[in-house]
Amino acid sequence: MGMERGTRRGPPRPLSVAPMMDWTDRHYRRFLRGLTRRTLLYSEMVTANAVLLGDRERLLGHDDVERPVVLQLGGDDPARLAEAAVVAVAWGYDEVNLNVGCPSDRVQRGRFGACLMAEPALVADAVRAMRGAAPVPVTVKHRLGIDELDHDAHLHAFVGGLVAAGVDRVVVHARKAWLSGLSPKQNRSVPPLQHERVVALKAAFPGLRVETNGGVRDLDTALDFLRRVDGVMIGRAAIEDPYLLAEADQRVFGDERPVPTRAEAVTAYLPYVEAQRAAGTPWTALVKPVIPLLRGVRGARAWRRTLTEGATRRDAGPELLAAALAALPDEVALTSGSALARGSALARGPAPAPERLIDCRA
Ligand SMILES: Cc1cc2nc3c(=O)[nH]c(=O)nc-3n(C[C@H](O)[C@H](O)[C@H](O)COP(=O)(O)O)c2cc1C
Repeated sequence: MGMERGTRRGPPRPLSVAPMMDWTDRHYRRFLRGLTRRTLLYSEMVTANAVLLGDRERLLGHDDVERPVVLQLGGDDPARLAEAAVVAVAWGYDEVNLNVGCPSDRVQRGRFGACLMAEPALVADAVRAMRGAAPVPVTVKHRLGIDELDHDAHLHAFVGGLVAAGVDRVVVHARKAWLSGLSPKQNRSVPPLQHERVVALKAAFPGLRVETNGGVRDLDTALDFLRRVDGVMIGRAAIEDPYLLAEADQRVFGDERPVPTRAEAVTAYLPYVEAQRAAGTPWTALVKPVIPLLRGVRGARAWRRTLTEGATRRDAGPELLAAALAALPDEVALTSGSALARGSALARGPAPAPERLIDCRA
């Protein structure tokens, strides 16, 4: 397959946090920046039509601190996607990603998302148009296959078309999707993970940056995959246990800065909470990403209770978050990285089933 040599845009992105509807909004991304500065962060999916016709401040607004950040687009019209990509760049996004992975009914009716895996030429046209219009990396997030179109011949032809169109990287959710019969949620757990097929895809396209996604729950696993593919994208684990990202800058990116403690991450978020509360942002939206920070460690229950009870107080603000922090056992608040996991403070109960915590409305 002919790779357009020398035209590849952007640095490699060894680690990213997946686009997740209802989760990866600006508040979540801002909070994560207290844990990792280097990990690539994605927006929720926004349709090209919404970008072109909707309230851009609400849909696209974000802070420079969140960078590097990617806008994920949904759509099936190359010209509109290209226009939306131009808007994304004007709003400060570092990259644009096309969603070819979401299997929900609402998305299929619009003929985009995972069903586009059956239309390789259209997806290639979209990539070519976006890349021609916007001077940033253009990437595609897709599945291994859909329905009966679930063999490597199809997958490799699909990706070959993207390569010819100039795609800068692909992110493969390493399972197929069933377009009928399974809900979006089931489509994230029922079809088995097949990371080895992503590794084979990389071997077939050595000049293409290939990232794998699905079921990665810790940095050890991510580092292991990084020996065989160019990047790893973490989804649910990053919302259920965000502190797993605290060691990412050191372990994945080789930074020398010390691993932040939970207290440091929350403290870095306080001025943002204050500004957002003053601007009228609901408390629940601001603390949603912070609540799971204590997952599996002592003090988690009181932390969760204090923060959720704040929703009933009109004046809930940074002071409440600071008070919840002050109430934590020191070894939890102030111990960084996996030191805690080795220490006595660990009180892991049974892990909640990830599928029960969250629901994709897309
Ligand atoms: C709540 C939720 C919302 C999601 N929304 C999107 C989305 O907007 N766009 C997308 O490409 N994938 C979406 N996904 C899929 C994730 O990006 C990811 O591919 C999937 O969860 C597998 O990775 P994981 O096992 O690490 O979670 C969503 C997943 C979840 C759990």
